[in-house]
Amino acid sequence: MTDTASAHGTMTALTLRRPDDWHLHLRDGEAMASVVGATAAQFARAIVMPNLKPPVTTVAQALAYRQRILAALPAGSRFEPLMTLYLTDTTDPAAIVDGARDRTVSAVKLYPAGATTNSDAGVTDLRRCTRVFEAMQACGMPLLVHGEVTDPEVDVFDREAVFIDRVLEPLRRDFPALRIVFEHITTREAAQYVAAAGDGIGATITAHHLLYNRNAIFRGGLRPHWYCLPVLKRESHREALVAAAVGGDPRFFLGTDSAPHPARLKEHAAACAGCYTAPHALELYATAFERAGALDRLQGFAADHGADFYRLPRNTGTIVLERHRWTVPDALPFAGDSIVPLAGGETLEWRLRLPTSTA
Ligand code: DOR
Ligand code: ZN
Repeated sequence: MTDTASAHGTMTALTLRRPDDWHLHLRDGEAMASVVGATAAQFARAIVMPNLKPPVTTVAQALAYRQRILAALPAGSRFEPLMTLYLTDTTDPAAIVDGARDRTVSAVKLYPAGATTNSDAGVTDLRRCTRVFEAMQACGMPLLVHGEVTDPEVDVFDREAVFIDRVLEPLRRDFPALRIVFEHITTREAAQYVAAAGDGIGATITAHHLLYNRNAIFRGGLRPHWYCLPVLKRESHREALVAAAVGGDPRFFLGTDSAPHPARLKEHAAACAGCYTAPHALELYATAFERAGALDRLQGFAADHGADFYRLPRNTGTIVLERHRWTVPDALPFAGDSIVPLAGGETLEWRLRLPTSTA
């Protein structure tokens, strides 16, 4: 990683190894075609979430989805989608082993049934997945967990912390060699849990959970574009996430959880959960790292730690972030509709320059 300073000593440009997004929603069809280029402009690879309608549950579906993504890429982009399977009560352990062997499947995603967007087919009882977890342990395939309980009795702001006690800890006790990514962590409890756990557990952190606390959802009125799941938490949790992201521990890495929904379904009586951050993801992360005085830690978090955890080679090309004030667009085209990027209309101080090399 190199940086360039102005005469006054402020950093004006930052060159980083090409980063990856370890948690991304691309959707399908026209919606996918309108967002995939944004991610390909920022990231070399992405772990693509399987919560389509219907979900991606078989290797054949994952391969077909991968082909549709590649076909929708803008000409000249070099981007590798890494595919995941959606864990259900009936997932076939043999498919996991095959997918791991030929690398057609990079991970398996656990959504507790009903936890979030398109999660109705999720797991109802983890005991039904014993053979799948045994197969995953044996071949080293990561289990990606949406870490929230769905019990309606549990306060929505406590669902992640309760998940640790009720689900994650028993799961790790029963399957000690299972490699786990605690996805989009939002609490001090989750950050502490991962920090204290062994090598086999990592966590992704979104840019929005590093930049905002839950006040953002209510500032000047109810603001649905700041609504995602797990929901933004109070400031002390945001601070704990920033400390984890900039602390250099290789088990914390970048996952945008960019989750596109058309504006009309966000600005709605029952607003969909999800923040669309793909077009300006690195700029948002750079903002958070700079505020923490830790721009020198951005490359590890964005480009090194995730690849190492997934046992994939680090990328070799570079990207350049320049200090350049610009305004995030209020809206972008989205499959004949429009979409509002997170922080639309606000100014950012960093801007991505086109890759200097894409080797
Ligand atoms: O906010 C979210 N949106 N959280 C999720 O877990 C899913 C995602 C989506 O697919 O829209
Ligand atoms: Zn997600």
